[in-house]
Amino acid sequence: MNKTLLITGGAGFIGSHVVRLFVNKYPEYHIVNLDALTYAGNLENLKDIENAPNYTFIKADITDAEAMNSLFQQYKFDGVIHLAAESHVDRSITDPNAFINTNVMGTANLLNAARELWKGNYDSKLFYHVSTDEVYGSLGDTGFFLETTPYDPQSPYSASKAASDHIVRAYGNTYGLPFVITNCSNNYGQNQFPEKLIPLFINNIRNNKPLPVYGDGKYTRDWLYVVDHARAIDTVYHNGKQGETYNIGGFNEWQNIELIKLLCEQMDKKLGRAEGESAKLITYVKDRPGHDRRYAIDATKIKNELGWEPSVTFEEGLSITIDWYLANEEWLNHVTSGEYQKYYQKQYS
Ligand code: NAD
Ligand code: TYD
Repeated sequence: MNKTLLITGGAGFIGSHVVRLFVNKYPEYHIVNLDALTYAGNLENLKDIENAPNYTFIKADITDAEAMNSLFQQYKFDGVIHLAAESHVDRSITDPNAFINTNVMGTANLLNAARELWKGNYDSKLFYHVSTDEVYGSLGDTGFFLETTPYDPQSPYSASKAASDHIVRAYGNTYGLPFVITNCSNNYGQNQFPEKLIPLFINNIRNNKPLPVYGDGKYTRDWLYVVDHARAIDTVYHNGKQGETYNIGGFNEWQNIELIKLLCEQMDKKLGRAEGESAKLITYVKDRPGHDRRYAIDATKIKNELGWEPSVTFEEGLSITIDWYLANEEWLNHVTSGEYQKYYQKQYS
């Protein structure tokens, strides 16, 4: 194996797709997946590759600076793809400190450990920081987020991600640390924890539970299939220009309520329910505080410069996603037992 690559947060939703892609596509790389296994981390996501000869899992917490230093010294990582984060906006509203600790301090710990290991010898080294379009704030009815759009984060989650992006850039500017950053739109797909809109609503439809639509339901998000995000990360890791930022998105905007109606239609068909049955579960509830109205990514740069574009339409990706959740009841039942019930009560009662 000619390279050792650290992927943080690899037991989570997006991270598990990135780990799978790299383990399978690059047998010449040793892939080290470092994850604290918080409520969102789940090794069941990686059952198919857990015994691969080029794969190692390490349970560790990125907020532990000493542990990060010693792991970097032990494994001599050539590159880092950093996805570990607290990732859910609603949780950031009730517990912002967890987001500041992991997303800001944890990222700084990884940067320090990389600097200490690489000691200015940056030949074929790379720190790849995975970020979100939410750092740009909220759009009105028109326009798109460009890589040059000024940061204007509105939630504790997006503010902590924005802070971590700034720190990564500062290490590049100040110490010459080689980095790339990508800012991606909302992901959906297999293995997403059912606290985010799409898997939460699939699970509730399956169980005939109310679908809690925040506010007027006319908030807009730009949705990308997770496997396409993992493909984009592969492209940027190997072909992206150091020090650059790339926006990733599918030019696929949906008002929440329109997306929910499509989801209900597809679920009716797949569950053999009468047309309109699942939509009866739609329930308007109190809005999220500080709710960003609209996100929309302009992904022209990554398409023109690196040739990446999404491989599936939203209708196809959504259908694959629903089929996966319906076929993986055991996975859903595991992750929705225990702590999830308490969270659900607190968030939606
Ligand atoms: P996720 O919540 O599903 O997974 C996060 C993973 O990080 C989990 O496995 C968790 O155990 C791990 N983790 C959390 N705190 C940790 C810590 N202190 N130390 C080590 N590991 C820790 O998140 P996701 O949706 O897969 O997002 C992954 C990354 O992509 C995040 O950085 C997020 O900001 C970014 N992102 C997400 C989306 C999206 O729509 N989900 C969109 C754009 C960018
Ligand atoms: P979410 O999946 O939490 O992603 P983000 O807030 O990071 O974009 O939410 C997507 C959209 O769906 C957002 O506008 C909030 C809305 N939403 C609901 O209406 N009800 C819900 O129960 C959840 C979780 C989200």
